[in-house]
Amino acid sequence: MEPMHVHIVYAHPSTGSLNAALRDEAIRTLEARGHSTTLSDLYAMKWKPVADYDDLGPVTDENFMEASGEAHRSGTLSDDIRREQQLLLDADAVILQFPLWWFTMPAIMKGWVDRVLTNGFGYGTVRGWRRYGEGVLAGKHGLAIVTTGAAEAHMSDRGINGSIDDLLFPINHGIFFYTGMDALPPVHIAGAVRLDEDGYRAGVERLRRRLEALEETEPIAYRAQRGGDYDEHRRLKPGLERPGASGFDLHIA
Ligand SMILES: Cc1cc2nc3c(=O)[nH]c(=O)nc-3n(C[C@H](O)[C@H](O)[C@H](O)COP(=O)(O)O)c2cc1C
Repeated sequence: MEPMHVHIVYAHPSTGSLNAALRDEAIRTLEARGHSTTLSDLYAMKWKPVADYDDLGPVTDENFMEASGEAHRSGTLSDDIRREQQLLLDADAVILQFPLWWFTMPAIMKGWVDRVLTNGFGYGTVRGWRRYGEGVLAGKHGLAIVTTGAAEAHMSDRGINGSIDDLLFPINHGIFFYTGMDALPPVHIAGAVRLDEDGYRAGVERLRRRLEALEETEPIAYRAQRGGDYDEHRRLKPGLERPGASGFDLHIA
């Protein structure tokens, strides 16, 4: 086993939360296996959660995306952004850990994504559109660890909240895979509001097993942009879908 460096981006405001306990278990498990870890604890860091021109130095292009690319090229991105980008470049695996809030990540983490994955880093108009399996972060693993108040059944295929895999598509496909990373199947701890001692122990056990198998876990089989499965309009070519697949699942080979 090759030791890996794992960077954890973590969002929870309470130091006594379930998420805080799971974060500590995750770090313990990874380090016991010989991996090294770094942590961006966004609330503790008082992470600035909104992308704006203050991030970009003297750049003023009215198109914010282009301005972001220019700031990246000219090295004027703010220090907190560049520090996070370096942490990602140094990592073999990136974990986003958060409680599901209003069907997605807490705003402070969305603000981390908006600010850190700049044009020219997270995606490119700077050196061509490298994305979906290609890009600066290619070859790294991405893993979401998410707790939900809702029970497992409520977040299953026919569950009233929609399936957890659908809810996490914007993160697994839209953030990890888009920026070039392999997206590993998420670790989902459900029923997190009313978790009793047994439920907690079972959740921790599942988390540990997943992290102990981090290196050999098969990623979600998303289709690469330039792997031949999409036509010139970036639509999946007819006949390539798995039997019965529709919606987000079309993009899994
Ligand atoms: C602002 C907010 C929004 C929430 N939205 C959802 C939601 O959309 N779906 C869900 O299952 N649980 C939701 N919850 C419940 C949290 O996911 C749950 O409290 C958390 O996973 C428990 O972990 P913790 O003890 O570490 O906070 C929400 C909680 C808060 C505070």
